Amino acid sequence: MQTITRLDMLRKSVAQLREGGKTIALVPTMGALHEGHLTLVREAAKRADHVAVSIFVNPTQFGPNEDLDAYPRQLAEDSAMLEKEGTAILWAPEVGEMYPDGFASSIAVSGVSSGFCGADRPGHFDGVATVVCKLFNQVRPDIACFGEKDWQQLAVIRTMARDLDLVRPFANGIIGIPTVREADGLAMSSRNRYLDAKNRAAAATLPREMREAIARIEDGQHVGRTLAALEDALLGAGFSSVDYADLADAQSLQLLDQLGERPARLLVAARIGGTRLIDNMAVGGS
Ligand code: PAJ
Repeated sequence: MQTITRLDMLRKSVAQLREGGKTIALVPTMGALHEGHLTLVREAAKRADHVAVSIFVNPTQFGPNEDLDAYPRQLAEDSAMLEKEGTAILWAPEVGEMYPDGFASSIAVSGVSSGFCGADRPGHFDGVATVVCKLFNQVRPDIACFGEKDWQQLAVIRTMARDLDLVRPFANGIIGIPTVREADGLAMSSRNRYLDAKNRAAAATLPREMREAIARIEDGQHVGRTLAALEDALLGAGFSSVDYADLADAQSLQLLDQLGERPARLLVAARIGGTRLIDNMAVGGS
């Protein structure tokens, strides 16, 4: 595996990997890798000749009072994990390489960015879209893999790729990979390590209560009342607040007050012990 921190070196290395018409899959990450990330890497390896993984804690997607400084950084450990997976390139630029002095551009994807995490974290998805567009232009992968764990992020990136006619990867070259969970159902996340033992145990209420709410909605119970009961259950279990707990159209992310013909998704963000956890699941067998 080549660990690369400069864009000119990246371009050379990518050109070498491409020789003989070989394909490249990109897995963008912010590091502190866990089984969720590694599953993306394995899925990427099934779909392309070479895998490039980026590790970049992107400052522009963090709000002023968020955890940019506290976000875990462990490049040596991450690098050892990726080496084992047979990763060809680890792209780990410094902030100054990604955002040189005078950097002044930004990509805003309206519509799918606006509710949910976009409402709670102003500017977050502009930061995500901009850095992902840069990563696509830097690596020019044939495909790129993203987790369904960040459902809204996946929708934002697919919309950006389609709207801006990104040559590589095309909108349909963006592959969504199902959420990888801990044994108790909690979605894996680099932020789970912020939780102390008590809050970590209580956090498993989130996926459990989501499944309960989904069963009720699929059973025909009132959506608004079911979502209110879900919020109450989370607050009762030790969550300090619920940013949102909504039923939405799986593609457009338009809010739904009842299940229709189209695929639907339950999306939740809630805080526990100062940590914001997000999760989402299919509703209605979609
Ligand atoms: P990060 O949170 O490091 O996640 C990197 C990728 O791993 C994302 O596509 C995310 O959805 C996926 N992922 C995280 N936890 C997962 C899980 N439990 N199961 C499956 N996939 C999971 O998301 C980001 O970084 C950044 O916003 C980024 C896209 C890299 C742009 O900076």
